[in-house]
Amino acid sequence: MSSLRNNGLHIKHLSIEYKGGSSVLGDVSLTLPEHAIYTVIGPSGSGKSSLMRAIAGLLPAYRGEILFNGQSVHRKETLIGLVPQNYGLLPWKTVQSNIQMAMKIAHPLQQQREQEEQIRQWLTSLGISELKSRFPLSLSGGQQQRVAIARAFAILPTILLLDEPFSALDAMTREALQKIFLDNWLAHPATTLFVTHDVDEAISLGQKIIVMPSNQKDALEIVDNHTVFQMKHQDKRDSNEFFEQTKRIRKVMQEKW
Ligand SMILES: Nc1ncnc2c1ncn2[C@@H]1O[C@H](COP(=O)(O)OP(=O)(O)OP(=O)(O)O)[C@@H](O)[C@H]1O
Ligand SMILES: [Mg+2]
Repeated sequence: MSSLRNNGLHIKHLSIEYKGGSSVLGDVSLTLPEHAIYTVIGPSGSGKSSLMRAIAGLLPAYRGEILFNGQSVHRKETLIGLVPQNYGLLPWKTVQSNIQMAMKIAHPLQQQREQEEQIRQWLTSLGISELKSRFPLSLSGGQQQRVAIARAFAILPTILLLDEPFSALDAMTREALQKIFLDNWLAHPATTLFVTHDVDEAISLGQKIIVMPSNQKDALEIVDNHTVFQMKHQDKRDSNEFFEQTKRIRKVMQEKW
C-alpha cells in the first residue's frame, strides 16, 4: 500500500465508553492529513475532550483504531502535544519547570541551556515571560492557559491537540494569540486538532471544521474552510466568505445540536 495513502491521523470506528457503561462517542471515523489543521466544535458533553484524550493515549480503553501514518498513534516516535481543557500543569513546579520537564521527556538529548533559551522565547512570544518563576496556582486562568500552550509548542510535537486553549482569554488577547498560534503552526506544521466553542475561532483557524453532533448516533459533519483559511489572518473576519461560512456552520449546528 502506498505510504501516501496512509499519511496523517486516521481515526477508525472509534467508540468510547467510560466505566459504568455510559457511551460517549459512537463509531467516529475521521482522517486528518499530515500537517493539516482542523477545528472541532460541538455541544458541551458531545465528547470532544474524550476524543482528544483517546488520541493522546490518556484513556485506558476505547474501541476502534487511531493510527498515524499507518501505525498506532501511541508509539513513542509520535510526539503528541496536548493542551488539556483544565491546562494540566503540575502545581508544585514553576512555569519554567513545567515546560522544561516536558521538553526533557520529549527531547532527552537536547542541551539544557538550549531548552532554557527556547522556553524564554516561547514565554516572550506568548506575553508571559515575567511569570517564569511563578507556580501555576498563583496564575490567572488565562495565564495558565498560555503556559500550557507554551509547553505544548515547546516540544515541537508531531501531533498537536488543543482543547479550548483560548477559552479563558479576553477577546483582544485571544485574537493576538490566534495569530501567534497560526504563525507557529506555519513554522512547525504539526498535524493539529483544535477544539473550540467559538464559531468565529473555528472558522479563523481550521482548514476544515468538524461539527460534532449532540446525538452520538448522528454522523459528524466536516465543512471545508480552505477559502477562508488561506486568506490573510487580519482580513478573514471582515470578508464575505467568513460571513457565508458563519451562516453555513450555524445551519449545521441547528441541524445537529
Ligand atoms: N472520566 C469520566 N468518567 C465518566 N464519564 C466521563 C468522564 N469524562 C467525561 N465523561 C462524560 O463523557 C461525556 C463527554 O465528555 P467530554 O468531556 O468529552 O465532552 P466535551 O465535548 O469535551 O464537553 P465540553 O464542551 O463541556 O468540554 C460527558 O457526558 C461526560 O460527563
Ligand atoms: Mg471538553
